[in-house]
Amino acid sequence: MTVYELDRPEILARKEGLLGDAVRPTCRRVGVPVDLATADWGEALADAGFRAADGPTCWLVEGLNQYLPETDVLALLDRISALSAPGSRLLTDFVARAFLTAPEAHPLLRLMEGWGAPWHYGTDDPEALLAERGWRAEVRSVAEVGAAMGRPLPGGRELSGWLVEAVR
Ligand SMILES: C[S@@+](CC[C@H](N)C(=O)[O-])C[C@H]1O[C@@H](n2cnc3c(N)ncnc32)[C@H](O)[C@@H]1O
Repeated sequence: MTVYELDRPEILARKEGLLGDAVRPTCRRVGVPVDLATADWGEALADAGFRAADGPTCWLVEGLNQYLPETDVLALLDRISALSAPGSRLLTDFVARAFLTAPEAHPLLRLMEGWGAPWHYGTDDPEALLAERGWRAEVRSVAEVGAAMGRPLPGGRELSGWLVEAVR
């Protein structure tokens, strides 16, 4: 298995500098430095050796969507979909739309903005978003999953966001 890790150049460089040789992946890992919001990262991924036609891909897009404006999230999903052979899987998460304006969320949203990483995007219908792009999605609220693990969240289902596992 090859894992392609796509992130901003400065983040990959910092990670590699910190980990050095201390941690060795048990698979082949290829860092692909890109800006997922603006770049045509499909080309960079192909240059790194990725071939969609080789078979199904498992995409893990965790903790990213909320940082991008809506147009960039849609473009990201379009690109992922175009690069996914039948049987590919997508594991991702979304912030609930209501969270972005909820008074309870203000302290966190202000903190993120202060760190230069403002949250832009939320949705309440990840299933439709993915169905439009040929994915069959199973969506669970973070509140449900948390409760099942004995970790209830304040704010309830409508503020908690979504964990998504989809198959193409
Ligand atoms: C909350 S972290 C999630 C970490 C991720 N699940 C992982 O295992 O590395 C958000 C990640 O998204 C990356 N990110 C945010 N905006 C990005 C962009 N425009 N292009 C590439 N990466 C971006 C950040 O650099 C950060 O590593």
